[in-house]
Amino acid sequence: MDIQKKVAIGTINCYLTPQLRSQWLAMAEEVAIRKAKTVENYILAIGGGKGGTGKSLITASMGICLASRGNEVLLIDADLGTANLHTLLGLEPPQTGLSDFLAKKKSHINGVIVKTGINNLKLISGAKDIIGMANLSYVQKRKILSNIKKLNYSYILVDLGPGTSFNTLDFFLISHCGILITSPEPTSIENTYRFARSLLFRYLRNMISQKVVKSMIDKGVMQRDGHKFYSVFDLLEAIEKIEPELGDSIASYLSSLDIKLIVNQARTTRDRAIGQKMALAARKYFGIPIDFLGNVSYDNNVRRGLLQRKPLMDYFPHSKAFEEIIEISQKMLPTYQLGLDFSTR
Ligand SMILES: Nc1ncnc2c1ncn2[C@@H]1O[C@H](COP(=O)(O)OP(=O)(O)OP(=O)(O)O)[C@@H](O)[C@H]1O
Ligand SMILES: [Mg+2]
Repeated sequence: MDIQKKVAIGTINCYLTPQLRSQWLAMAEEVAIRKAKTVENYILAIGGGKGGTGKSLITASMGICLASRGNEVLLIDADLGTANLHTLLGLEPPQTGLSDFLAKKKSHINGVIVKTGINNLKLISGAKDIIGMANLSYVQKRKILSNIKKLNYSYILVDLGPGTSFNTLDFFLISHCGILITSPEPTSIENTYRFARSLLFRYLRNMISQKVVKSMIDKGVMQRDGHKFYSVFDLLEAIEKIEPELGDSIASYLSSLDIKLIVNQARTTRDRAIGQKMALAARKYFGIPIDFLGNVSYDNNVRRGLLQRKPLMDYFPHSKAFEEIIEISQKMLPTYQLGLDFSTR
């Protein structure tokens, strides 16, 4: 057995207390119960490692699509640094947004919700870029998350900024379903994998309370070259060897994460085959079931419209990309409650 695994097993063995063991088992049971429930307020986070892949475009258009079918939909621009959902919807920067709620200028989150002019579709803008997402404190993060969860909408779509900051990852992890958006470019694909891997390590790090194991995970996250990296499988394998039941429950919890993938800006047949391959690879190498939702075509009219900052509704509904988004959003049924509710430290 390789030395890294020996170290990993030894380290974990020292720190698996009976209490931790029972925590894992309780969580696995909770997943089974949650799985059976349906959700009313379905929170979808739209993210991915790379900038400019179309996260905001897909959030806005999916929102329009779901709202046009009679669902009450709320869009949240959680990319506080460069909030632009309002532009896609043809709105001037709203006077109020998430930052006002965080700065306590508005005492209730309902006070920062604005109309979009589209039936059934509301928006919480990131508004003034006072606070970068990466700088949110633990308390601010909890405040946003717990208030979002209380809102009464059929669908809440959260548009995340690029990158893998803890805040972005945590928003993704607390939602009922996370949608990764990638473009077919190799750098985007690579960043999407990086995002998925960071997500898992963030998740495991929060689940495991012992300091030494946390630091082991942190080292794994920081290592980028293959042979030194502790993959999720390495970690699970190490845990399973000592405690088969525990390894199973982690694996079962991981398999219940509801993560989807959309390939945006697809142009060729080859591009269209990428999503399925990525989903298979993610299962094979990370142990997470990523569900490939579909491709959205690259469309010059969409690009032109976006660059001219025209409202999406002026040009998007007539595009092939919109038809594809309609098809994709039909798959977004809120049948699971799989979000995490761990305290994010
Ligand atoms: N399907 C598409 N067809 C053509 N162009 C597209 C498409 N999707 C996105 N784009 C182009 O990509 C740009 C970025 O889109 P968008 O702002 O939605 O990306 P993003 O992932 O939200 O970016 P950021 O990471 O900066 O928040 C758009 O301005 C547009 O030019
Ligand atoms: Mg964006």
